[in-house]
Amino acid sequence: MTTVVIQSLVKRYGATTAVDGISLQIEHGEFISLLGPSGCGKTTTLRCLAGFETIDEGRILFDGRDVAGLPPEERDIGMVFQSYALFPHMTVAGNLAFGLEMRRLRQAEIDRRVRAVLDLVQLGGLGARYPRELSGGQQQRVALARALVIEPKILLLDEPLANLDATLRDEMRTFIRDLQKRVGISTLYVTHDQAEAMTMSDRVVVMFGGRIAQAASPEVVYDMPASAAVARFVGQANVVPGVVGVRADGLPAIHSPVGLLPLPLGLQLAIGTRLSVVARPQAIGLSAARAANSASADGAAAGGVAANIAARYFHGAFIDYRVAVGGQMLSVQAPAPARHQAGDEVQLGFDAARLWAVEAA
Ligand SMILES: Nc1ncnc2c1ncn2[C@@H]1O[C@H](COP(=O)(O)OP(=O)(O)OP(=O)(O)O)[C@@H](O)[C@H]1O
Ligand SMILES: [Mg+2]
Repeated sequence: MTTVVIQSLVKRYGATTAVDGISLQIEHGEFISLLGPSGCGKTTTLRCLAGFETIDEGRILFDGRDVAGLPPEERDIGMVFQSYALFPHMTVAGNLAFGLEMRRLRQAEIDRRVRAVLDLVQLGGLGARYPRELSGGQQQRVALARALVIEPKILLLDEPLANLDATLRDEMRTFIRDLQKRVGISTLYVTHDQAEAMTMSDRVVVMFGGRIAQAASPEVVYDMPASAAVARFVGQANVVPGVVGVRADGLPAIHSPVGLLPLPLGLQLAIGTRLSVVARPQAIGLSAARAANSASADGAAAGGVAANIAARYFHGAFIDYRVAVGGQMLSVQAPAPARHQAGDEVQLGFDAARLWAVEAA
């Protein structure tokens, strides 16, 4: 097991600063996902760790040792590149054996490990094929097998499951996670798939423009995003501008275009603070609009906000509603079956325990 420390890492390509001062520690056996939009510096970060780039500023330490100047083959890293990068002139088995031959393992041991890892990625019969004779998903699994077969201390995976179908992807996820935990490989995993990042990771690191916007457990990143941008990037989020004020009964509340919202639990905010309220689609409840004669004069004080269903989308397990209120369009998810139709008047309920607030956007 290895601890990886990244200190104030900067990597420039000409005028482009691909990585702009990131600091991160990957603990022994920790699984960290890097999430962020295209071009935010994920691959560059991995390449710096692997030793394929000379860094412009900062330091990278493996178990306390500065790895500057250490070539990739001496870093004990398994890496899956975004583009697979298999050796085209070698068979599948040759690709897998390569790293082991470099490490001067005995032939019998090499054969045993190659067979075992091929079975693991369900490519048992294909050892004699060349990469060009494989599908994209099969090439991807060979790339993964090649990274794993050397049993590295550090695993750097750049979208390793992007070309697999849903079932195989699911199996490979479990497989990577189990192996990673069993062997205790410190892992940095790049993915565009937020659900994948959340289910697999000990910590999720969200990057924008070469910088870390937040590094925390999946729960914290989802429930307590550091900014509106993080909230929007990780899962669906309604982000509503507001100002902290008081309700008619004197209790604090947030004045917003969608009505009075409860103060997120646990947040101490001074009256007059401008902020953005983050409400996940599951944090908002929908109920049928009350009849006019029973409606309270102050709907918000009674805990409901009048709104209109603009559209609804069936997702199988849940219904995704678009709800128009106060000039905003909110996304609200409720368990199937659908109980409201487009055009219906509804009441929204905001759950204070599931709201969050970030700096005004
Ligand atoms: N060899 C290079 N020369 C010049 N610019 C580069 C080079 N490699 C990457 N960049 C630039 O550095 C920035 C970060 O690129 P990087 O490949 O790290 O992004 P990424 O987060 O992996 O994106 P994606 O999700 O699309 O793979 C981008 O602006 C990219 O154009
Ligand atoms: Mg990339």
